[in-house]
Amino acid sequence: MWRPCLRSVSIGLSIGLFCAMLPIPFQMLLAAVFCFIGRGNIPIAIAACWVSNPISQIPLMLFQERVGAKIRDILDMDWLNFIDIERIIPYFDKSVNLANFAVGVASTALLLGLIAYPIVFCFYALVPKKYLHTTDLTKDKNYQKVSISTMRKIPVEVFGKKQAAASKLADETAELIRFNDSIGKSTVLGLATGETPLEYYKALIQLHQTDGLSFQNVVTFNLDEYIGLDSKHPESYWHFMHINLFHHIDIKPENINLPSGVVSDAEISAYCEQYEEDIKEAGGIDLQILGIGRNGHIGFNEPGSPRDSLTRVIELNATTREDAAETFGGIEKVPTAAITMGCGTILSARRMVLMAWGKDKASIVNKAVTGTTSDIISASYLQDHPNASFYLDTQAASELDQVI
Ligand code: PGA
Repeated sequence: MWRPCLRSVSIGLSIGLFCAMLPIPFQMLLAAVFCFIGRGNIPIAIAACWVSNPISQIPLMLFQERVGAKIRDILDMDWLNFIDIERIIPYFDKSVNLANFAVGVASTALLLGLIAYPIVFCFYALVPKKYLHTTDLTKDKNYQKVSISTMRKIPVEVFGKKQAAASKLADETAELIRFNDSIGKSTVLGLATGETPLEYYKALIQLHQTDGLSFQNVVTFNLDEYIGLDSKHPESYWHFMHINLFHHIDIKPENINLPSGVVSDAEISAYCEQYEEDIKEAGGIDLQILGIGRNGHIGFNEPGSPRDSLTRVIELNATTREDAAETFGGIEKVPTAAITMGCGTILSARRMVLMAWGKDKASIVNKAVTGTTSDIISASYLQDHPNASFYLDTQAASELDQVI
């Protein structure tokens, strides 16, 4: 705000001072034109021009014929004497008193002092804006966007198509795997199921088949599995992962970790603890892939899941079961519970990317990214993670930044 004002004042002053010989209306017009080019405030520039006019008259007056002669005499004097007022004053006739002289000196000093400033700002006014850096956000056409996006509490990348997002994430994964390979370390991936990661898995397969990306040193941990479904069930996540990824890459079967949905009640607690231990023993998850449910869940961490929850069995929420009804051929066939990594397990990953596509996810994505962190939307916990990102297509991002 102050910059355009300062710029306008300096433009007005510089025109008023340097073009004092021109008619005043013409000076004001000039000030307005410079100000328009310099994106200042035209009324302020005109006012400054008007104010500077009398000031500009003072040094001019001092150089007028009668006083000018005296001044010239002073200038001819020994410069050491110039500061000796007692010797200067006698050279002035009665119409030029000490006060006038002081004003003259002060205004001349002001004029000289202002020279650098108006020149810089006139230059600024004349040089096209694209050649200048500006911190004036109000003149930046993206200002609105920059300002509003401060509501986003998680870094968000929006892509025109989900394939582009998936391909970027696959490239990031490949880079991670190759780097870890180069230092003799295995890469631990946390994997998700559902519609969302399908394009990502296709991109990984493509990188394996055409780019030689090897998964020999990759260890995977899947997020979840339906309780009651064994590995042969077509809707089991074990089946999903093999059909959509593992069968097409060179991962070692012993490096694949998927929670089992058929552990007995008596053993489930120890089994969940062991899953946590296995993740730790593998060195922790390097990159966790996530989708988001319409109720905001990550994994099967349904609303109400605590932030520090670990791998456990959880009852499935009505929205989750409705969303799965079509693939199961009816809601009655959808299991009522699942085993899932907890929010705490997920958040301990070193990097995580949550993908979301389509209009159906737009509302919950907005809440997770811009709303308050709460156990109602477990994806909102990602706000507290130092290295989490959302990769969205334009539709999933379409409600972002709306006040909720
Ligand atoms: P979707 O499910 O990928 O099938 O949309 C995501 C999720 O429920 O986590």
